[in-house]
Amino acid sequence: MNKCVTIIVGTKWGDEGKGKIAAIEAADADFVIRATGGSNAGHTVVFNDKKLALHLIPGGIIYPQTTCIIGPGTVLDPYILISEIKMLKSSGIHNVDSRLLISGRAHVIFPYHKDLDELHEKMKEKPVGTTKKGIGPCYSDKDNRVGIRMYDLLLPKEQLEKKIYESTKLHNQAFIKNDMVESVVEASTLANEYHLLGLELKEYITDITPFIAHAIYDNKKIVVEGAQAFRLDIDHGDYPMVTSSNPVTAGTLCGAALPPQAIKTVIGIDKAYNSRVGNGPFPTELPASIDPKGNVFKGTEPLEGDVLRELGHEYGTTTGRPRRCGWMDAVILRTAKYTCGIDYLCINHLDTLGKIGNELGYIRVCIAYTYQEKIIAYYPDNIAITNELPEPIYKTLDGGWEIDPSCKTYEDLPQKAKDFIKIIEIVSDIPVKYLGIGPSNDDLIIREDI
Ligand code: GDP
Ligand code: IMO
Ligand code: MG
Repeated sequence: MNKCVTIIVGTKWGDEGKGKIAAIEAADADFVIRATGGSNAGHTVVFNDKKLALHLIPGGIIYPQTTCIIGPGTVLDPYILISEIKMLKSSGIHNVDSRLLISGRAHVIFPYHKDLDELHEKMKEKPVGTTKKGIGPCYSDKDNRVGIRMYDLLLPKEQLEKKIYESTKLHNQAFIKNDMVESVVEASTLANEYHLLGLELKEYITDITPFIAHAIYDNKKIVVEGAQAFRLDIDHGDYPMVTSSNPVTAGTLCGAALPPQAIKTVIGIDKAYNSRVGNGPFPTELPASIDPKGNVFKGTEPLEGDVLRELGHEYGTTTGRPRRCGWMDAVILRTAKYTCGIDYLCINHLDTLGKIGNELGYIRVCIAYTYQEKIIAYYPDNIAITNELPEPIYKTLDGGWEIDPSCKTYEDLPQKAKDFIKIIEIVSDIPVKYLGIGPSNDDLIIREDI
């Protein structure tokens, strides 16, 4: 079998710059596939010097030769899909209609999924801090085998109505019990509305298997644009503070309908500092005067976390929430290496970390943890039981650096930036082949010798 698939996978808690790297990899690709999640993702790509925020359609759509596929492992809000298609067309991207395929097996997010997302969060003692896009409830319906797929939107209206009715019996009881009568689903009304959306999306909805089979047979370049990330994976992340899909490499293969033998390269994406939006463990998090809900705790001086957030413009692409920020955790990368099968790393925001170092006078990188009185070099998976956060052991570098935007090779980078990268390579045991030095597609150094 031809090895023609490049997988882009997030290594921390999302927003590492996957969209940018997937778009760069797509420059000479034939197919680009989104495999997991839905509009909880927010991927930034630069087209004609303008930033586009994409939630469902792969960023590779900006290149005219690509066919972009939204895979069977995703959960889709038709309204967001339609508005994204319109946005791409109005941004000057050509032939979107003939280059976009949506798997009929992808599941549909309905308004009641968003209401359930809100309700679950409200009822929890420790909310996850979800994006409230209905992701968890839609995947729950899928797992309970009452989900509604994109194919179902193409059924005769009466059949769609019956499916919606069956699917929402339990949900309606929950809505009534919780004084949410306005959320109670009227199956016929919803069937009318979503049947029309199905007609609007009909030309894109298809069986993607033949396309993928031909692509592999013909050795076409396929890029999988991973969404979310390793620590948000429902099986391998910080459960229960995770999303409801499997964003690790194996999960993206499944969600894209790709066989493992077709993998050529897996690129793990990270940032030179780290961020997390939503709740849950974050060992290297720095104190900040603003929390993820936007509450401001006023002090006299900006705290370390504020410096990272402001210099990195760390506000959610999907929700606008301020992101929690902290130092690079290289131990998680080491832990991700085998679970995600990472061949190479891409470290974005090397420019931003240099500025952070200049502002604070130092930068840090976590090289091990103290945990339960031991020094460990992997991420423990029983934090929810021990209630103890691994305590980072840091290597500190003085000052920061300035990266000239014309810098094109690794050798041209400031020595301190190279020292920082070396530490990551030693701790993670993964070569850093790609270095992001700015938001544009050109702002990337590729080490050809690796
Ligand atoms: P994704 O969800 O992993 O695709 O990442 P997001 O798009 O949510 O967030 C990444 C943000 O960082 C975007 O605003 C990008 O434009 C920006 N970005 C990506 N790489 C770099 C980089 O190397 N330097 C700088 N300064 N910004 C970057
Ligand atoms: P990209 O692809 C950052 C987080 C949410 C929350 C948790 C569960 O842009 O990197 P959900 O709505 O999925 O049920 O929320 O997962 N989360 C993300 N955080 N980037 C993402 O995607 C995310 N997708 C989900 O903030 O903590
Ligand atoms: Mg994002």
